[in-house]
Amino acid sequence: MMGDILVTQAGPVLEVVFNRPEKKNALTGAMYGALVDAFHRADEDPAIRVVLLSGSGDTFTSGNDIKDFQSRAATNEVSHASPFLEALSSLATPLVAAVNGAAIGVGPTMLAHADLVIAARSARFVMPFTSLGLVPEAASSLLFPRLVGHQRASALLLLGEPMDAETAREWGFVNRVVADEDLMTAARDVAARLAALPPASVRMTKDLIKNGRTDVPGRIEQELVLFRDRLRSPEATEAFQAFAEKRKPDFSGFL
Ligand code: COA
Repeated sequence: MMGDILVTQAGPVLEVVFNRPEKKNALTGAMYGALVDAFHRADEDPAIRVVLLSGSGDTFTSGNDIKDFQSRAATNEVSHASPFLEALSSLATPLVAAVNGAAIGVGPTMLAHADLVIAARSARFVMPFTSLGLVPEAASSLLFPRLVGHQRASALLLLGEPMDAETAREWGFVNRVVADEDLMTAARDVAARLAALPPASVRMTKDLIKNGRTDVPGRIEQELVLFRDRLRSPEATEAFQAFAEKRKPDFSGFL
């Protein structure tokens, strides 16, 4: 699809790009709609194993389009972002994000739902909700304290203090920081590594990490049930056989 959201399938990776650089990739209702379609496509097509999200130009995204906020306030219209947040938080396909430049508002809050985040050195994360008279969204008031700790989350969400790329890495908000010119290569490399793994195991592991039971005995039990089934799965059979035959396993045919 061409336009403000670019969607390209590169082998098993669905690359989704915010492409409204003249407005710093500010997200409109139509863009949220296209993102929802892309996420649904990824979950419905077994040939797609990873979604890779990035922004064109010098910005990841400046967040929700502020004009859109104004018109919604005037009409009391339902948020365009809510179907997007629903699709994002329930996405079964692993999500890798490549962040360059500013990530503002829903930019960083959507990253709390990504599975792996690679940041360029230019990346800067800002959540200016309180200064705009708003409150955090995308469950960031829940996920940020879990990710970086209560006090740091308060500095980010209450004070709206910006976080640079290196701080984001130190605080565990992003996995890795690379030079700007290496961003897409590094992110595509991570996406390719994920895409080469057994797809069902990857999706189940993502689901356990995000939605698993929260008590330890319950989680052990939940994992054991899946583990027992996995032992008999074609993916594990291929992995064990490849080990015995001293070759690299090939999971490309598994859907
Ligand atoms: N909504 C609507 N338009 C936006 C936007 C947003 N979130 N962010 C940027 N734009 C527009 C600007 O209005 C400007 O449009 P114009 O050329 O028609 O005047 C254009 O994008 C370029 O932005 P500009 O501010 O000139 O670029 P900059 O490099 O100086 O600053 C930002 C970039 C992202 C730091 C700055 O635009 C900004 O702070 N944007 C608002 C972010 C925000 O508060 N988002 C809401 C979060 S809840």
